[in-house]
Amino acid sequence: MKKFLILIVTVIGFAAGIYTMRGAIDKHYEFTQPIDFSHYVHASKYKIPCIACHQHVLFGARAGIPNIEICGACHSTPMKKTPGEEQVFGYVKSHKQIPWYSIYYVPDYVYFSHLRHVVIGKLDCKLCHGDMAAFTSPPITQFLKIRMSNCIDCHQKRHASTDCWQCHR
Ligand code: HEC
Ligand code: HEC
Ligand code: HEC
Ligand code: HEC
Ligand code: HEC
Repeated sequence: MKKFLILIVTVIGFAAGIYTMRGAIDKHYEFTQPIDFSHYVHASKYKIPCIACHQHVLFGARAGIPNIEICGACHSTPMKKTPGEEQVFGYVKSHKQIPWYSIYYVPDYVYFSHLRHVVIGKLDCKLCHGDMAAFTSPPITQFLKIRMSNCIDCHQKRHASTDCWQCHR
């Protein structure tokens, strides 16, 4: 009987553990972006290159989410008065940064560099982020999930280093 009780308690504990873990994962994606930004309109319809807005990929580790300094180049006067444009114009006019939420990030103990992958490695953004130019709204899930196994799979295929210290410096 005692053994059985221990088993029950363990099973419940395990289930509760999974439940809270799931809760944490789901919560992670509960957010609304300040503006319903369309990559399709900018990157596809108006053919603005990715690096025009995500300039830092060329210089360093982070790609960076562009802010009003970049939006302001085109949105410092209202255009066709869609509610979205109206919103960007509002931020630009009042010099307020747009509080974007980022869904792609590695933990502190992992080193990742866009410069290394995009410029030196010549990898297409699509391999990791999917076809962003087709998105009419901000993405809500990672295309290639940021998991150690996904990093290592590609490194093995493309003969890049799989030494622990390369990613955990
Ligand atoms: C190089 C010029 C350019 C830059 C830079 C630019 N936009 Fe735009 N944006 C446009 C044009 C052109 C339209 C009008 C599209 C239309 O109505 O057909 C537009 C439309 C929009 C719209 C309304 C349409 C929609 O569905 O998204 C939003 C919202 C928007 N832009 C947000 C932004 C934000 C935020 C930034 C900065 C990160 C930005 N834009 C930077 C050119 C630009
Ligand atoms: C090999 C996979 C890979 C490729 C290729 C890649 N990215 Fe990323 N991207 C990531 C990872 C991993 C993160 C999270 C990085 C972090 O937290 O420092 C990220 C984060 C981002 C972010 C969020 C902001 C930031 O700087 O963390 C943007 C925007 C982005 N990438 C744009 C791009 C663009 C544009 C390209 C192509 C020019 C590109 N990425 C190519 C893997 C990739
Ligand atoms: C006009 C500026 C602009 C252009 C051009 C642009 N982006 Fe973005 N990008 C943004 C803005 C603003 C956000 C934040 C809102 C969102 O998530 O849609 C963003 C978000 C992203 C993210 C999600 C980052 C995260 O952590 O949530 C990725 C990945 C990304 N862009 C990749 C690309 C790629 C690849 C291209 C080229 C095909 C591109 N972008 C072209 C402005 C731009
Ligand atoms: C190509 C990059 C890369 C290499 C090589 C790599 N890691 Fe990781 N590692 C990651 C990333 C990204 C994460 C965070 C995402 C995750 O937890 O999957 C991570 C997470 C971890 C964690 C935390 C996992 C957890 O479940 O909390 C440990 C421990 C770890 N790595 C150990 C190692 C060891 C030991 C090696 C060498 C045998 C190694 N890593 C090689 C990218 C790498
Ligand atoms: C789609 C393929 C791909 C994915 C996914 C990928 N990488 Fe890489 N990575 C490469 C290639 C190719 C190189 C070698 C680039 C070069 O130097 O030519 C590289 C190089 C690196 C380096 C430098 C290693 C060295 O030899 O100096 C680090 C660190 C790194 N990646 C970390 C990561 C982490 C962390 C992730 C996951 C979050 C990741 N990579 C995901 C393809 C990938």
